[in-house]
Amino acid sequence: MKTRHYDFHHGIPEAELDEVIEAYRRGECLAFPTETVYGLGADLFNEEAVAKIFQAKGRPGDNPLIAHIGEAEALKELTGPLPEKALKLMEAFWPGPLTLVLDKGERVPLVATAGLSTIGVRMPDHPVIESILVKGKLILAAPSANLSGSPRPTEAAHVAWDLEGRIYGIIDGGPCQEGIESTILDMTCEPPVLLRPGTITREELEEEIGQVEMDPSLLGEEAAIPRAPGMKYRHYAPKARVTIIRGKESLEALKEEMERLGSDEGRSALVVFEEHLSHYKSLPIGYLMPLGGVSDLKHSIRNLYRILRDCDILEITDIFIEEVPETGLGFSYMNRLKKAAGQNFLKRSDES
Ligand code: TXA
Ligand code: MG
Repeated sequence: MKTRHYDFHHGIPEAELDEVIEAYRRGECLAFPTETVYGLGADLFNEEAVAKIFQAKGRPGDNPLIAHIGEAEALKELTGPLPEKALKLMEAFWPGPLTLVLDKGERVPLVATAGLSTIGVRMPDHPVIESILVKGKLILAAPSANLSGSPRPTEAAHVAWDLEGRIYGIIDGGPCQEGIESTILDMTCEPPVLLRPGTITREELEEEIGQVEMDPSLLGEEAAIPRAPGMKYRHYAPKARVTIIRGKESLEALKEEMERLGSDEGRSALVVFEEHLSHYKSLPIGYLMPLGGVSDLKHSIRNLYRILRDCDILEITDIFIEEVPETGLGFSYMNRLKKAAGQNFLKRSDES
């Protein structure tokens, strides 16, 4: 299949806007920008179109999609009556990076929800996708626009790297501002349960609606099966082996670990916070990459997937990357990083 490219990076051309809306209406599958990561969307009410998403990504059929809406109006078609707390959160955080899991309405096809009786809904905060949803009166079902398992795409070029030739089109709206996927909160239980942490933190949610519980799988209870089905899969993983290190790691410990692993120095990358760069200056390693400021995690988090992807493009085989304390945004950063690393932390001689 020839993949069409639409450039909406520096404005929204009216003719092309109509063209992509028509394509969605015909049941085509196109990647679109959001403030979090790129999504791979299709008309939610068209089962054949939705099935194309699973096929293009190689996504397991038991992993539900998120309904993307442009206006609150659209909720009527997706859900039953809304809980009071859900209304409060919509008021506070929509449009924005928050997905609410609600009881699904009858018209929603089961292929989109992977057979569940609930549906995840969000209103993205990005002018391009907002124009498409509002002008086209569309509701798009979408997961992230990457091949299943690989790091999430935060730029149109990353979508093309994975999906060129496999999908109808890619709509380029520039790099994503948030850089990690939305916070997911299950509103079908009381108190609501956090299924996936994002840039909207548990603390911010609790300020609006009081107590929010954590899905046990987020607390490192390995046996716990996550209630957001997608969270159980190996995720965000670049091709390289990823090892998590502490801030300002001892150079000796790093050298020892690289030796132990048999890492190829020239094809290894050290990804660290800007404040720590000079500490590592004398380490013989192929790539030293700044992640952003440790004191400005909101910006640094945005670079995480891009750097993991760049490492794949550079054919790097070993990535050593710094951890942060697991509080606030640090909790979301570490959730993604631990998955990318498969829970792999630097071994130390004082640990068995
Ligand atoms: O920011 C985002 O959430 C991005 C953009 C494109 O909106 N979307 C995204 O979707 O990254 P993705 O690939 O993570 O897939 C949807 C996630 C999966 O982890 C899935 O398990 C969860 O949402 N999910 C969807 N519906 C659900 C439901 N009814 N109950 C529990 N989890 C659900
Ligand atoms: Mg995904």
